[in-house]
Amino acid sequence: MRQRFLLPAVLLFAACASETPYDPLDDYEEVDAVTILDAPSPSPGRFAPGERDAVVRGEYLVELLGCGACHTPGALDGQPDMSRSLAGSGTGIAWSNPLGTERPGIVYPPNITPDEDTGIGGWTDRQIAEAIRAGLGRHGGRRIMTMPWQGYARLSDDDVTAMVAYLRTLDPVRHRVPAPVEPGQVARDPFVYFGVYRRR
Ligand code: HEC
Repeated sequence: MRQRFLLPAVLLFAACASETPYDPLDDYEEVDAVTILDAPSPSPGRFAPGERDAVVRGEYLVELLGCGACHTPGALDGQPDMSRSLAGSGTGIAWSNPLGTERPGIVYPPNITPDEDTGIGGWTDRQIAEAIRAGLGRHGGRRIMTMPWQGYARLSDDDVTAMVAYLRTLDPVRHRVPAPVEPGQVARDPFVYFGVYRRR
């Protein structure tokens, strides 16, 4: 009987001792952790949640395989404009009989940012993958000239998917490269020669 009475008495004393009990949470509000983890990375929109690993790998592969060496403006002139990385080159690459022809055929490495009009924004994943691994143009016709796609042909499905995922996260840049020049025609835009030549 005595014990049953003692416990409520002790609790009452504790409540009176401090008038406003300290609650550390009074000074804070809870923030949903998911909103923090999903905050945009320094380049907004680059990493959709769930795609992060593939995109990081894709960026690594695109850098490793030197896509920007041709596809970034100014790169073929030794002065890449990194603010427009992969947005296409106004300097072309000669592909036909460079030593013997005064007027070679020339291709201009296109814009591979996701711009709808001037880049690959309207391409399907499959079309982009086939351009990289099989050198097929958008409608599967002619082989892409001068791009070393033979060297990319054995990329795994996962790797090429990661590269496509990365290219899709680039900021779309509006930049149309000059049309290809057929052999014998006059080129109005600058171009370089690539190749290995052995004297016969
Ligand atoms: C040596 C220069 C060179 C390198 C390196 C290169 N490309 Fe290309 N790429 C080209 C040229 C030139 C074309 C267009 C050729 C043509 O029109 O026939 C092209 C076309 C493409 C196309 C088709 C786009 C279109 O609008 O036709 C894609 C996609 C592409 N390249 C992606 C890549 C990727 C990804 C890499 C790196 C893995 C890469 N390229 C490396 C020169 C290069």
